[in-house]
Amino acid sequence: MTTPKRYLVTAALPYANGPVHIGHLAGCYLPADIYVRYLKLKDKDVVFICGSDEHGVPITIKAKKEGVTPQQVVDKYDALMKNAFAEFGIQFSYYGRTSSATHHQTAKDFFKTLYDKGVFKEEITNQYYDEQAGQFLADRYIVGTCPRCGNPNAYGDQCEKCGTSLNPTDLINPKSTLSGATPVLKETKNWFLPMGELQQTETFKNYITRFDHWKTNIKGQCQSWLSEGLQSRAMTRDLDWGVPVPVEGADGKVLYVWFDAPIGYISATKEYYNQSNEWEKYWKQEDTQLVHFIGKDNIVFHAIIFPMMLMSHGGFKLPDQIPANEFLNLEGDKISTSRNWAVWLHEYLKDFPGREDELRYVLTAIAPETKDSEFTWKDYQTRVNSELVSILGNFVNRVMVLTEKYYLGVVPTSKKFTDEVLKSAQSTALLAVSSSITQMETYIESFRLRDAQAELMNIARAGNKYLAETEPWKLVKTNKEAVEGIMFDALQICAKLAIAAQPFLPFTSARLQAMLNINNIEFSSIYNDIVLPSGNQLKPASILFKQVEDAEIQPQLDRLAKIKKDNETNDTTASGAASLKQVKEDISYEDFDKIDLRVGKILQAERVPKADKLLKLTVDLGFEKRTILSGIAAYYQPEELIGKSVTVVANLAPRKIRGIESQGMLLMAGNDIDKLYSVGPEQEIEPGSIVK
Ligand code: 2FM
Ligand code: ZN
Repeated sequence: MTTPKRYLVTAALPYANGPVHIGHLAGCYLPADIYVRYLKLKDKDVVFICGSDEHGVPITIKAKKEGVTPQQVVDKYDALMKNAFAEFGIQFSYYGRTSSATHHQTAKDFFKTLYDKGVFKEEITNQYYDEQAGQFLADRYIVGTCPRCGNPNAYGDQCEKCGTSLNPTDLINPKSTLSGATPVLKETKNWFLPMGELQQTETFKNYITRFDHWKTNIKGQCQSWLSEGLQSRAMTRDLDWGVPVPVEGADGKVLYVWFDAPIGYISATKEYYNQSNEWEKYWKQEDTQLVHFIGKDNIVFHAIIFPMMLMSHGGFKLPDQIPANEFLNLEGDKISTSRNWAVWLHEYLKDFPGREDELRYVLTAIAPETKDSEFTWKDYQTRVNSELVSILGNFVNRVMVLTEKYYLGVVPTSKKFTDEVLKSAQSTALLAVSSSITQMETYIESFRLRDAQAELMNIARAGNKYLAETEPWKLVKTNKEAVEGIMFDALQICAKLAIAAQPFLPFTSARLQAMLNINNIEFSSIYNDIVLPSGNQLKPASILFKQVEDAEIQPQLDRLAKIKKDNETNDTTASGAASLKQVKEDISYEDFDKIDLRVGKILQAERVPKADKLLKLTVDLGFEKRTILSGIAAYYQPEELIGKSVTVVANLAPRKIRGIESQGMLLMAGNDIDKLYSVGPEQEIEPGSIVK
């Protein structure tokens, strides 16, 4: 491959329907930022584009829930997200929004070009329509019973209980969430991208050869999509929030959010260049390297659909790399915005002010590059304390303190050692440092940022080892000259660390450079023997990283524990309510009449050994006494029941349970989850009375 002339790096446009969390950061924004910072250090021409994805049904749902307009929702979250990214040092060249006028125009023009070229297939399909609300229903606006697992609250596109992906027409007993009405099927026209046909074109076949150079997780996903054969997908939707479809006969329709969102990268680049033609160089010239950083749920859109759109349009270059990450979990569970199971960036900034690099570090160390990974607060604490504090922070601090003590903070001169032990320690250290730097570069260029950051730490490890082997604090008593040489080397390692840390720990790098009294050093000087010249006066040292105390992470764990509990309660209540809604199939009166219900009076009640749910009751039915086993031990103490009048199913065939014959059943009322009450006559009435 020829060396690219310029780089266009994009990070997935986050939906503006919630704040950003650590999963977002680890999944794509942080890796993209590290990569871009590195390219800039290497003096590459690079533009880094992101922005808010402000269309899509989740935004309209959020607006409805909060009783505000979709525009108010996106305005709020666009500002929140943009700010959080900036605080974490994510240095986009430009952060756009898909509600901007430039974007609407760009997306419309793009659609119109494809339309005029006859790329789309017009299709009339039947879609659910809410007659009360007077609108077609997006999949998420329809709920019904999952045909697979019976979950009564499955969405039109997916059952979140069993994970099955659904079409709205698969749902049993569908209801509109807008009005509660039963939706009706109504014909509607939409424009489809014929992906099956496009898959067969030479241009596409040629394009997919580049998958061979991509990470295996992405290649695998793409190949499985392709081998299943692609289906046409509608690029328009019957909705009122989005970019209006710019053709006749499309009133009330907008572009599919996944059609307009990736075009957002293009419109943001245009805005960055203030509409001058400069943006075209990045999007249209083959010597641009186009890299999309995304999470794994976005793969098909970036690796297949967007390239198909670009090639159908013509004149655009296609993505060169798509380094998609897998997912980050949190304390044993999937991160979820709706369940508030997340570490929110804006909250972290409040709780851990000035410790942005610590989170950047931990998230890169555990980045889900090849498989899902997990963030826990304990691991965060351990990594900060035993890696950042003990290895990197400790090395820099020792060097700064000793330089101040021995030389009043002035960098000493380099020395050639004669002592074999010193010579060998020196060459081992310097070799380790330069090989870690080379290795770090190779890793960044192949998107292995975890490994790259580990090499950064290896530089500090090499520095610590050098000091431990040469013990300048002891040697100073006998060989001051040699100590100067050791400290000179150690200071060079500090300076190299300051340079190498820039992509990963930009705030720390800046602080360290300030302490070493250097700035704007070229990255290339990292390979020089001398980065920090003798005679350079250092500034006062400050501690780079603070220990994370138990008392600091405990509130985070407590918060998550509370959320977990609240979620469990909500789930129970929701599924309780859901099961209450479900009425069994109709039966005839004759069926009902077969049941002989009688009033009974409980005479005795006792627990059944080794059966913690059961109580053994003796019930007086007037004409006889019965033994009845009832699964109510969790709700009643035996003594509470004695003397109670209850309703008994008197003609239920006897059953043996735990060796005891149960001769009937008591009627109980409850929500199947946490309540159960016996059902009896309002007033005392003689046992054996008929209930009907
Ligand atoms: O998954 C998401 O958050 C989408 N909003 C990503 C869009 S990426 C791009 F195409 F704009
Ligand atoms: Zn289901």
